[in-house]
Amino acid sequence: MTLSQESFETHLHVSEPALHDAAAKLAQNLKPPSLLLLKGDLGMGKTSFARALIRNLAGEPELIVPSPTFTLVQIYDTSRGPVYHFDLYRLTAAEQIYDLGWEDALDHIVIVEWPERLGDLIPPHAQSLTFTAGDDSDHRWLTWGRP
Ligand SMILES: Nc1ncnc2c1ncn2[C@@H]1O[C@H](COP(=O)(O)OP(=O)(O)O)[C@@H](O)[C@H]1O
Ligand SMILES: [Mg+2]
Repeated sequence: MTLSQESFETHLHVSEPALHDAAAKLAQNLKPPSLLLLKGDLGMGKTSFARALIRNLAGEPELIVPSPTFTLVQIYDTSRGPVYHFDLYRLTAAEQIYDLGWEDALDHIVIVEWPERLGDLIPPHAQSLTFTAGDDSDHRWLTWGRP
């Protein structure tokens, strides 16, 4: 696991532009294999963060990064290898993850929204970033942790 927190406070209160800056900073140090779990309720900014992270990893600020709500996974080619973006909200059973290329994905950079759907299948080496409501509607709290 090469994802490190060194460029990150463990607890951050961020506007959306600051969230994107944090994603850009994280992207600088992210190498495969890395597994990043994005937790938090609907509308808390998981996709916004993932989009900024993927754009930085790809080196394409305008890259189209749709929410994988219905496809469950989108894969991006970057100079750091493939980057997998999962949204497991609609996963019907944890084991269904294996039909989505999960085992291959784990050799690479993986970003997962709604990792709770994996239950016991969450790899223990993952790192999590939890999004909660901020002190006003334009801010969010970000908290680093283990799954
Ligand atoms: N500080 C913030 N960080 C992230 N998103 C924010 C923030 N403030 C407002 N927003 C808005 O909240 C919404 C987050 O949506 P999204 O990223 O799709 O959430 P999720 O993937 O967690 O369901 C967007 O409309 C975004 O513009
Ligand atoms: Mg989302």
